Amino acid sequence: MAAAALWWRKNPSACPYGQRFWVQAPHPFITRARLRRVLAPAPGERILEIGPGTGYYSLPAAQWLAPNGTLELFDLQPKMLDHTLARARQAGIENMHSTVGDAQQMPFADETFDAAYLTVVLGEIPDQLAALRELRRVLKPHGRLVVGELLGDPHWVSPKALRAHAQSAGLHFERQLGGPLGYFARFGVSS
Ligand SMILES: C[S@@+](CC[C@H](N)C(=O)[O-])C[C@H]1O[C@@H](n2cnc3c(N)ncnc32)[C@H](O)[C@@H]1O
Repeated sequence: MAAAALWWRKNPSACPYGQRFWVQAPHPFITRARLRRVLAPAPGERILEIGPGTGYYSLPAAQWLAPNGTLELFDLQPKMLDHTLARARQAGIENMHSTVGDAQQMPFADETFDAAYLTVVLGEIPDQLAALRELRRVLKPHGRLVVGELLGDPHWVSPKALRAHAQSAGLHFERQLGGPLGYFARFGVSS
């Protein structure tokens, strides 16, 4: 078990669309209500979600930003984005856009977003520091970043490792919600 966990950690890769049942299960500890509390989204804001998967957080998050705000989805896998957008259309949600790409190098201009979040995603990215630097670049000067992690995920990132990477990327730690089983950590853009 321990060897398998170590292997997964050392060989990060995106959760395939064919295994999406994992991300459709309830997310204990890193609930939608907790994400809302720590992210503090406001109507009218433009927020970036990296790695939405099948949209566990995306649909409620887009509603938190309505009527004038937008949620930008960004994922490596077009099938994940199509799936989430189809769910949004069915629910009558229109303030969601999507872009396919790799979080290690994003196509967005500097200082585009009020906030960004990613849950159970960072550990799947081979160069986490590069992704965090990109996130800092696309956030506005007073922007905020929320990272969610759940213990048991083979690509789990510990709070300590996350804080160290975030600091190197020019982000400062603000607060943590949750404990060792599952947590959200919030960071601000350092000047
Ligand atoms: C385990 S799923 C998590 C889905 C969702 N955040 C949730 O909590 O239910 C990870 C998602 O991150 C995406 N992903 C992984 N590596 C990525 C990268 N380098 N850039 C963008 N998206 C990535 C995957 O395609 C997948 O949709």
